[in-house]
Amino acid sequence: MPRAAVRLAFHDAGTFSLRLGALGLPNGAADGSFLWDPDEVQRVENNGLQAITAALTPLPAHFGVSPGDVLQLAGVLGVLACPGGPRIDAWVGRPQPANVAPTGLLPSPFDTVEHLTGRFADMGFAATDLIALVGAHGTAKQRFVDPSRAGQSMDSTVDIWDVNFYNDTTIPDAPNGVFRLQSDVNFAHNASTTAEFHGYINNQEDWDQDYRTAHLLMSTLGYNTADLTNCTELMPASINLTQISTPDAGGRLQVSPMLLAAALEKYRAPWLAM
Ligand code: HEM
Repeated sequence: MPRAAVRLAFHDAGTFSLRLGALGLPNGAADGSFLWDPDEVQRVENNGLQAITAALTPLPAHFGVSPGDVLQLAGVLGVLACPGGPRIDAWVGRPQPANVAPTGLLPSPFDTVEHLTGRFADMGFAATDLIALVGAHGTAKQRFVDPSRAGQSMDSTVDIWDVNFYNDTTIPDAPNGVFRLQSDVNFAHNASTTAEFHGYINNQEDWDQDYRTAHLLMSTLGYNTADLTNCTELMPASINLTQISTPDAGGRLQVSPMLLAAALEKYRAPWLAM
């Protein structure tokens, strides 16, 4: 679930487009539109995000806050819930979504490096941000790119927030049981991205710092932080997943909407008392 929350935060923000905005067209944002437009999660590129979307959808009404605040806070908490995951600054105060997310803007693992860096530039990211952000694939699994290898992870230490992804993606052959996306392998070797990519190998400190900066930007795409409120100090120092999850039939922990709501209520209480 935490890794799904991180991917959801990206798919929510990743339809933001400066180009469409300049043309006066609906241009997405980190606005939580997944929790507001029931059709968005049905798009093929959002396969696998149904369970996390269903778990989060009741929360904006329950807490009287916007879908964007709930969804993007879940992404930040998702990173924190990964062992070793950094605490990313959390901002709240996003308004209700203004439009249905534009289609055709989310990246495919078969896109070229040129297309992907161009698309991320249209969101407002430098290539360095993009290479830092894809490091989230170090906690990722794939199910739909190659269903015959569903469940395989994108690095050899998928349960830990670390930089092994950059090494595992660069070496000539994938480690046993690791599924590498073609787009990630291309980033590792393309002249325009290889230096940044290799720069994170064995360099956890730089990656954590760059990832935190880029994720913060991602979580506020479409908004000016001057209009939002920084609530980082109210974030827990770490998250114990067992407190918000119950095991499913296969023994895997699944986030329980009820326990999640109770935990959020607890963290929110000091905020309301201020
Ligand atoms: C070049 C851009 C990107 C491409 C082409 C891409 C593509 C993909 C694909 C194909 C999957 C596997 C989906 C499946 O089969 O289940 C995936 C998973 C994932 N992606 Fe990305 N992604 C990109 C960028 C990002 C970014 C920027 C983030 C977050 C900051 C992110 C976070 C994740 C996570 C956490 C998963 C694992 C989800 C899970 O295991 O449930 N991705 N991505």
